Amino acid sequence: MTRFTRIAGLGHYLPPRVVTNHDLEQLMDTSDAWIQERSGIRERHFAADDVGCTDLAVEAARAALADAGWKPEDVQFVIFATLSPDLYFPGNGVLLQHKLGLGEVGAMDIRNQCTGFVYGFAMADGVIRMGTCDRVLVIGSELQSPALRLTTEGRDTAVLFGDGAGAACLEVCDGSASRVLGHRMHSNGKYALELTIQRPGAANRPWISNEMIEDGSCGIHMNGREVFRHAITKFPAVILEVLADHGVKPADLALVVPHQANERITEAVRKRLDLPDERVYSNIGRYGNTTAASIPIALSEAVTEGKVKRGDLVCLASFGSGFTWAASLLRY
Ligand code: ACO
Repeated sequence: MTRFTRIAGLGHYLPPRVVTNHDLEQLMDTSDAWIQERSGIRERHFAADDVGCTDLAVEAARAALADAGWKPEDVQFVIFATLSPDLYFPGNGVLLQHKLGLGEVGAMDIRNQCTGFVYGFAMADGVIRMGTCDRVLVIGSELQSPALRLTTEGRDTAVLFGDGAGAACLEVCDGSASRVLGHRMHSNGKYALELTIQRPGAANRPWISNEMIEDGSCGIHMNGREVFRHAITKFPAVILEVLADHGVKPADLALVVPHQANERITEAVRKRLDLPDERVYSNIGRYGNTTAASIPIALSEAVTEGKVKRGDLVCLASFGSGFTWAASLLRY
């Protein structure tokens, strides 16, 4: 049998605390109108102080395992995408392996920020198609709230991001009904510093100092206009590439699940592909930008809401820090 990959189960988890734009108005000089007009975000979820990124991931993974009908011992490999790991090292993959009570299976992290889940999805597909494993758990999880500067100085990024996790159980199949069709992945490190947390970092001397903490260089730096400019061209370009690889057109898609960066970016993608609103998924109003978690959360919700059914053609697409951009095409 030729080996193909299919999604066996999906799950997602948002921490219970909802932070509205009006809540942020109490902390910084911003407004609900400014945030909604620029990003489409109305509210986001922030985790409690005693919760780590892998704690969110455990909840999402348990939901995905239940959806797939898998037991923890069925998982043969873990791929964990995040930019907000619990520790500098080791990575979240091994921490999740332990917390979920998995066997001594391989576990790795992907550091590709907003594009991390799509890259992880593509790697899992490769591992399965090669015959290395039959069942792989892919996670996107982010705990971004602790790194946000919830002050007027940090408002350009603080209003955009939220916490959450999503997970997908991928398994081998014969490809007759459902299957992952293919992927396209890109990067251009020329733009690495346009969206970054630079410090602490091993290239810096000293590695960390009080000055770095005080001057904010341990926080997120984003050139929003540059990100926007590239995102609105690279998103549709990579989607069209992966569609062309498989001889399909945008109109053939039941749903595009884009990384939830910003409603204006999603709107630009929708227009470029000439798709109606209901065929490009959006939940950014409720969750903000959850970086590597946004696509698995959105896909999990879309399936739960009946917007994607078995056999439907679906495209996952992302753009983010790096810059990196990628898309996957699948028959769900
Ligand atoms: N509330 C109120 N005012 C603000 C805020 C805020 N939260 N943040 C910035 N401002 C002010 C600025 O200080 C500036 O004031 P000034 O004109 O007096 O100097 C003014 O608003 C306009 O700022 P701009 O940066 O020019 O605003 P712009 O219209 O470019 O919108 C935004 C900013 C929303 C970040 C936009 O550039 C954008 O959407 N970029 C894409 C970035 C993105 O989506 N990032 C997500 C992460 S990357 C990814 O996931 C792909």
